[in-house]
Amino acid sequence: MNRVRELIPYFRRYRGRLISGLTSILLSVALGLLTPIVVGRAVDTFVEDPSRRTLLTYAGLLVGITLVQGIFIFLQRLLLVTMSRNIEFDLRNEYFAHLEKLPLSFYQRNYTGDLMARGTNDLQAVRMLCGPAIMYSANTLFTATGALFFMFRIHAGLALLALFTLPLVAVATKVFGQRIHRLFQKVQEQFSAISTNVQENLAGGRVVRAYAQEEAELLRFEKLNTEYVERNRRLIRWTAAFHPLLHGLVGLGFVAVLWYGGGLVARGVITVGQFVTFTFFLSRLVWPMIAIGWVINLVQRGSASLGRILEVLDTVPEIRDEPPLVDGEHIRGAITLDNLSFAWEVDGQPVLSQIDLEVEAGKTVAIVGRTGAGKSTLLSLIPRLADPPEASVFVDGIDVRRFPLTDLRSAVAAVPQETFLFSSTLGENIALGRPEASRSELEAAALAAGLGEEMEGFSNGLDTLVGERGITLSGGQKQRVALARALLKDSPVLLLDDCLSAVDTHTEEQILSNLREIFEERTVLLVSHRISTVKEADLIMVLDEGRVAERGRHDDLVREDGIYADLHHRQLLEEELAAV
Ligand SMILES: Nc1ncnc2c1ncn2[C@@H]1O[C@H](COP(=O)(O)OP(=O)(O)OP(=O)(O)O)[C@@H](O)[C@H]1O
Ligand SMILES: [Mg+2]
Repeated sequence: MNRVRELIPYFRRYRGRLISGLTSILLSVALGLLTPIVVGRAVDTFVEDPSRRTLLTYAGLLVGITLVQGIFIFLQRLLLVTMSRNIEFDLRNEYFAHLEKLPLSFYQRNYTGDLMARGTNDLQAVRMLCGPAIMYSANTLFTATGALFFMFRIHAGLALLALFTLPLVAVATKVFGQRIHRLFQKVQEQFSAISTNVQENLAGGRVVRAYAQEEAELLRFEKLNTEYVERNRRLIRWTAAFHPLLHGLVGLGFVAVLWYGGGLVARGVITVGQFVTFTFFLSRLVWPMIAIGWVINLVQRGSASLGRILEVLDTVPEIRDEPPLVDGEHIRGAITLDNLSFAWEVDGQPVLSQIDLEVEAGKTVAIVGRTGAGKSTLLSLIPRLADPPEASVFVDGIDVRRFPLTDLRSAVAAVPQETFLFSSTLGENIALGRPEASRSELEAAALAAGLGEEMEGFSNGLDTLVGERGITLSGGQKQRVALARALLKDSPVLLLDDCLSAVDTHTEEQILSNLREIFEERTVLLVSHRISTVKEADLIMVLDEGRVAERGRHDDLVREDGIYADLHHRQLLEEELAAV
């Protein structure tokens, strides 16, 4: 609740709008309160002088007041709703920018659906807090104060009598408000459940169909949806009862006012006109009473949602620039691992233990090892996707933690084991790291990655759209697009994590021989399960359970008769069998 204060800096930016918006509300309310007074006067005057002229004068006056009031109502909405949209805009940008900064580990702890909900539903609730909630509470406050002031001026006793139902109204607002708030939360929770279900079903559509689970999924969805409607029904029953109840309670006040006020008029204590004015003011109070409950609701929801958004914004990115920094604009690409040990969790099982490695700039080192040996983990430490311990990973002899993150990551082009393509064109996917690249550079990268046939075959070449996550491409095509993306980035360090595993051996060999020249100019760390891929490397390192088991060139390792030699023999055998 008190975190609402943290919104103040956002309002400060739009101070002018806020002040003129509130002034517009004040003026429109003031004009609105003038109407009952004018009507009262008109009645009194008309009783004494029932001429056409009086009628026209007062009618004209009322129309004039209403017109000017209309302008201010227009202005207040324009100013305050725009302000709330601007604050929403700022918050959304900040939220997204922050999400971009948070490291891998954050996304392992949080669900996509939940983060999306915070950026949409919750943000919407905060906007309601910044705009409508302010607008309606100011309206309510001004109207109630003004109306009560005039009612008491007309006749204090009558005013007190009119308000005798007020405590009842307060109790009803509290009881109904709490109930409605709780029911509303339940509706929102159910909505989240439906969204999560839809999101997973869309993303996992292939699996659902492959296992013929459409019926089961439909049933599950129907159940969620039915529950959603049921919860909404409960909410509607309470909100539907709430408004007539308030009207009824205020109506009781009217009855009392009519009975006692009629007597006052008869005895000449107040005029007919004053009585009319009084009842007008009383009816003006109904709306603020309804609005109070509503505003309380908006504030509760808005502050709860704000808390959820701030929770994400407060998460400090674990991986960030930590001064003192050194300039990283001219990284050459020598890589050193010095007694590197790493665990994914604090005090967790080490995934890498005491690894030493020296790679001169321009050399190619291959890393092989059983699944789960720690190969991908090792590669992720170089561009600091996960943070290595101090003084264990060096580039050009400098601890990677001393480079500005952007410099370090510009110097490293990585093809991760699992490719991810965006739902844009082939070309745009390739140009991710260098959007300014020319068409011919794009084509060269695509060619080098073995996409020549695709460029010819696809109707729109590089402008072909690839569908969500590249769903319209084959596994091997996706991998080659990811490779082209890394090649185009033209960075001194190239990390290839099993990046052609879905491409057949023959095509892979072709691609690699294309890349030989490119490899000569860069430092390459190459992970693969295939001996044919790694045998040309300057050095081959065999990882086993996070430790370096063997290292050397292909021929030496084959002679050594260890894990590598074993792998080599098995793959030779497989090839021979395949050839038969
Ligand atoms: N993000 C992560 N969080 C926690 N543990 C992880 C994470 N990534 C990998 N691990 C664990 O670290 C160990 C090494 O995984 P890694 O992905 O480095 O293996 P790999 O050698 O690349 O295997 P593969 O050949 O199957 O790709 C595994 O036991 C795995 O469970
Ligand atoms: Mg891996």
